[in-house]
Amino acid sequence: MQADLVIVANRLPVDRVEMPDGTKAWRRSPGGLVSALEPVLRANEGVWIGWPGGTDEDLEPFEDDGLNLLPMTMTAQDIEEHYEGFSNGTLWPLYHDVVAKPEFHREWWDGYQRVNKRFAEKCAEVAAKGATVWVQDYQLQLVPQMLRELRPDLRIGFYLHIPFPPAELFQQVPWRRQLLEGLLGADLVGFQLPQAAQNFVRLVRQRVGHKTHRDLVYLPDGRTVHAAAFPISIDFIGFDEMAHDESVNQRAKEIRQQLGDPKKILLGVDRLDYTKGIYARLRAYGEMLRDTELDVEDAIFVQVAVPSRERVEQYRKLRDDIDRLVGHLNGDLGRIGRPAISYLHTSLPRHEMAALYRAADIMVVTPYRDGMNLVAKEYVACRYDNDGALVLSEFAGAAEELRQAWLVNPYDINGMKAALLEAYSAEPKELTRRMRAMRKQVASKDVRHWADTFLEVLAAVQSSHTKNVLPPNGS
Ligand code: G6P
Repeated sequence: MQADLVIVANRLPVDRVEMPDGTKAWRRSPGGLVSALEPVLRANEGVWIGWPGGTDEDLEPFEDDGLNLLPMTMTAQDIEEHYEGFSNGTLWPLYHDVVAKPEFHREWWDGYQRVNKRFAEKCAEVAAKGATVWVQDYQLQLVPQMLRELRPDLRIGFYLHIPFPPAELFQQVPWRRQLLEGLLGADLVGFQLPQAAQNFVRLVRQRVGHKTHRDLVYLPDGRTVHAAAFPISIDFIGFDEMAHDESVNQRAKEIRQQLGDPKKILLGVDRLDYTKGIYARLRAYGEMLRDTELDVEDAIFVQVAVPSRERVEQYRKLRDDIDRLVGHLNGDLGRIGRPAISYLHTSLPRHEMAALYRAADIMVVTPYRDGMNLVAKEYVACRYDNDGALVLSEFAGAAEELRQAWLVNPYDINGMKAALLEAYSAEPKELTRRMRAMRKQVASKDVRHWADTFLEVLAAVQSSHTKNVLPPNGS
């Protein structure tokens, strides 16, 4: 197989799962990366290299729903060191403002290098001459450089879906220089927000010692690397269409009935991750019920928590904490047939998600730190009646674009309660004003726009290599 566009991500868009009867089946993978990139690959006819989620299973390349997928095998050791270890025990917490404590282990780093190398080699094997390779996210930061060594003919882009931390935090990594050099193998390094691109360029100047000028890095071999922000988005039209679907709206009505026809439904949808601020959000809601600002006869909070990284200690602890909190709140504040919180620890199909978005009056998205948060944009895309309120953390990348949300600081419980109450009692006119503006924003900057802009800039950056001239005062 030789492809002109290769997407490389730690995960494939589908996950290999074992069914109760022991047979294997494919299920859509969790997370924002997959939901954003799937339509891109569909539109561009490329191949997607990634891990199908299981252990030690050698699978042949296959086609799934029109996508060409190339599964990478991971051993139990790879999963422990690369995926659970360095990616999700070191980089994930470090890049998210150290919301949890990152751990540094040399064997995790070895595993990370080993897996990155295998991904780079696979990529070198399947990319056609002069192909474009688009490497995704923090699990594969060494791939650009490794791949460039194997295949200098390729056009290589890298996109980081999560935040890139300020130098003060990044500096903690014992292998900081190697990570930066890994990324510099790309022609274009993309981030969610401009601040992240600036953090990166500054670190390259300080830690690797290359000349930089604004968003450009000048390498000694004559190459230029461009770093810039490309805020990711969703398939707005796809969501809008799904939201109009008769069966989705029927299901939304049914959900309302099943919840006992409350006046207002509040909704949270997150991977069960400590960065998402689920605990503080539910606590704030519980206090509002306790202080009779809200009443369980009128309101219900539906929290969907998608299982995630369940073997990593911090995630296990979070699950226990949330289970306990929900138990307390329902025990203390609920009445018969009127729980305070309807809690689902599961991953729901898209149709059901759209129905929930349609049913919810207030969407509550309060991460401590989040690269973008596509759930917030999905909610907006489903509210074609221009109603519904979004309560959104200032620390989600989406807050840069969705300025008409009720923006909150998730560390400020009282502030969060005040915003929830305002959103709860907002006049329809106010809701419409805000939602209309947010829908306009998401409709105009959808995922197609994101991918097209990235790929266009990537094409332009590489063709300008021949003109690589240092600025007079390269800083
Ligand atoms: C975030 C990351 C993705 C990741 C997803 C799901 O969106 O940016 O790279 O795939 O979470 O996490 P998981 O560990 O299950 O792949």
